[in-house]
Amino acid sequence: GHETHKNVASVEQVWDTALDAEVDRSAIVIGVGGGVVGDLTGFAASTLLRGVALGQIPTTLLAMVDSSVGGKTGFNRPRGKNLVGTFYQPKFVLCDVDTLSTLPGEERIAGLAEAVKSAWLDSEESVAMLERDAEALTAGDADATIRAVRMSIVLKSRIVHEDETESGRRMLLNLGHTVGHGLEAANEYRGIRHGEGVALGMIAAMRVAARLGRGRSEETERLTGLLGRLGLPTDLDERLSSRALEFIGSDKKRRGNRIHFVIPRLPGETEIELVALDELRAALE
Ligand SMILES: NC(=O)c1ccc[n+]([C@@H]2O[C@H](COP(=O)([O-])OP(=O)(O)OC[C@H]3O[C@@H](n4cnc5c(N)ncnc54)[C@H](O)[C@@H]3O)[C@@H](O)[C@H]2O)c1
Ligand SMILES: [Zn+2]
Repeated sequence: GHETHKNVASVEQVWDTALDAEVDRSAIVIGVGGGVVGDLTGFAASTLLRGVALGQIPTTLLAMVDSSVGGKTGFNRPRGKNLVGTFYQPKFVLCDVDTLSTLPGEERIAGLAEAVKSAWLDSEESVAMLERDAEALTAGDADATIRAVRMSIVLKSRIVHEDETESGRRMLLNLGHTVGHGLEAANEYRGIRHGEGVALGMIAAMRVAARLGRGRSEETERLTGLLGRLGLPTDLDERLSSRALEFIGSDKKRRGNRIHFVIPRLPGETEIELVALDELRAALE
């Protein structure tokens, strides 16, 4: 399960293995792995015999807190990531944090960025919980990890229930992702993990909020402090190359020269706004 395997050939393997076993429409496809495996098996299940049941058993922290829930499936094309896919909900998601014991530390830390995102979207209590649990989370403590996973799943499933196909509120889940994707793309998706990009992207979003007169520096400091304590990168200015700025806004969420941008304010008070790309880049330069 590696990003380079997230292609149609891997989907064909799932299809053909199932078809060779002569499964019928009562079959269930279960994805055991990280987000790559989850997205591929989800797509395969949604198309096999026009759709068979799907179950997800995520084994990375990112997949537990984010990708296994919400029903987005798909794979990459030469033109870009996740360009072909479906919305298809799993029948169950089973998270066992014991599986994380073999996950490299950096992968686990990267997954924590999405938990911070969830907490900031959710509430003051959730942010305060991660602040209390920060040391335990970096050490891989099971109870703290379960609390973070549960909070993230509850938050995500609530938002997805309101807007399954991302026409409105589901866009909130893109907090930190506009700039994060720009950083990932500028590094050819190799130099920086997704979660690291999201951490820096959330700091960038705070900066944009400040420029628009929405945010306060206390919130930026609080978020930066939490990300830093969790072992995530916070050195936005060192990473923001002009190349990254070019990539920002070249994505799916663009509307002419404006973009739907997620503006964080206090925990639980995040908003989506159309922001001019010029203004966005000016806030970051
Ligand atoms: N569907 C969605 O809503 C959604 C949301 C966010 C991300 N994603 C997708 O998720 C993918 C990233 O997922 P990821 O961060 O889980 O990466 P990943 O699936 O590539 O897994 C990271 C690495 O960890 C290995 N691994 C998995 N579980 C392990 C374990 N328990 N012990 C040791 N190694 C293990 C994998 O083989 C892989 O090498 C991206 O393709 C992204 O597009 C999807
Ligand atoms: Zn993400």
